[in-house]
Amino acid sequence: MARPSNALLVFLLLCLPSLTFALDVRDTLARLWRRSSRSVPAAGYSNPNDNGGSMLTKVLGTTYPAGQGEPVNTIISGNSNSAVLVDQETDGGLRNYYLSLSFSSECLGQHSGTDQQVNLGDGNGYLNETAVIRYNYGDPSLGACTETIKGGNHFRYWVQNGKDANTGAIFMAVSYEMPIAQDHDIVVNGYNLARDYIVGNISGTVIPTLNLTNSSTYSGNTSYGGYTYKTDISYVSGLLENTSIGINHNLSVYIPGVTNAVDGLVAVLDVSILEQPEESAGWRTRPKLWLLLLTVLGVSSFSL
Ligand SMILES: *[C@@H]1O[C@H](CO)[C@@H](O)[C@H](O)[C@H]1NC(C)=O
Ligand SMILES: *[C@@H]1O[C@H](CO)[C@@H](O)[C@H](O)[C@H]1NC(C)=O
Ligand SMILES: *[C@@H]1O[C@H](CO)[C@@H](O)[C@H](O)[C@H]1NC(C)=O
Ligand SMILES: *[C@@H]1O[C@H](CO)[C@@H](O)[C@H](O)[C@H]1NC(C)=O
Ligand SMILES: *[C@@H]1O[C@H](CO)[C@@H](O)[C@H](O)[C@H]1NC(C)=O
Ligand SMILES: *[C@@H]1O[C@H](CO)[C@@H](O)[C@H](O)[C@H]1NC(C)=O
Ligand SMILES: *[C@@H]1O[C@H](CO)[C@@H](O)[C@H](O)[C@H]1NC(C)=O
Repeated sequence: MARPSNALLVFLLLCLPSLTFALDVRDTLARLWRRSSRSVPAAGYSNPNDNGGSMLTKVLGTTYPAGQGEPVNTIISGNSNSAVLVDQETDGGLRNYYLSLSFSSECLGQHSGTDQQVNLGDGNGYLNETAVIRYNYGDPSLGACTETIKGGNHFRYWVQNGKDANTGAIFMAVSYEMPIAQDHDIVVNGYNLARDYIVGNISGTVIPTLNLTNSSTYSGNTSYGGYTYKTDISYVSGLLENTSIGINHNLSVYIPGVTNAVDGLVAVLDVSILEQPEESAGWRTRPKLWLLLLTVLGVSSFSL
């Protein structure tokens, strides 16, 4: 009597690897398909304003005509190395690139702060941010917790991958916030400065925020997890307005007579991979070989 249920259990256990394998294959194929069907204009992104979108986020709960917004002031170009545009920490992906800039995913996986939405003009309409990423003060595992409490640099990001503009470019709304005790307001000039701190950390120079123009360029190399990235940065005008009107926290962020809360410049980052760990290709395929082996075993013992 015990025999059939044992056989069933063995069968189910043997099925597990093939299920995981099937999901794994489907995932990889979907990712390859999305990547291969990307179409990237020379600029490296499609201007959301050209297609009903906007470079300002919507902050839910604010009222200026259709809500106040925060500037999407940094773009990782769709012309970057395609490994960098994959949202993962492995294989030199986006999260590993962020770590090379001293930015980590949220504190202990806990999401804090209100969601913001943006329409990148790619046919996806308004979407909540993919995630919030925080400056880690040099501590990749717990530093984002420090940022949540004592404030600092952080950003939300979205991927331009809808059917009308599948460029794969990453759009980031970067700002420098005050400590949690001050309700995470934005510091004076905190949108423009936060963008420039990222560029400053890449290039190893202090960026002259008030003197930037649409012909400013910088470059630098950053590393994490055995990967070294080269980033070429150019500041671009015409995507965002140079204004304080309609900008979230504008009263405390702009400097009267000196700068608007948003100076109208977007930093476009073109990222390439200079170095990667030698054994990374091997490690990537080995787990899949194991799954294949287990699947074959599972299928053959089922047919026995
Ligand atoms: C977007 O964020 C808002 C506010 O946090 C939430 O209520 C809503 O469910 C989210 N929408 C989606 C599609 O996740
Ligand atoms: C590097 O980033 C940190 C945090 O945003 C900032 O305080 C610092 O000024 C930046 N360094 C440069 C050179 O921009
Ligand atoms: C900005 O430009 C002004 C005028 O050219 C110059 O005096 C000032 O030193 C510059 N500031 C920075 C930070 O480069
Ligand atoms: C750069 O900005 C100037 C105004 O400051 C503008 O006339 C020019 O068209 C801009 N160039 C580009 C390439 O956007
Ligand atoms: C980045 O690395 C490349 C290749 O090693 C080198 O040619 C370039 O000078 C480096 N750039 C900077 C800003 O250090
Ligand atoms: C933004 O506009 C102000 C005038 O309101 C001007 O002084 C400043 O140069 C402009 N900034 C850029 C980056 O064009
Ligand atoms: C801030 O934006 C509001 C609209 O949201 C506008 O009425 C106000 O004039 C702006 N303030 C400044 C200093 O630009």
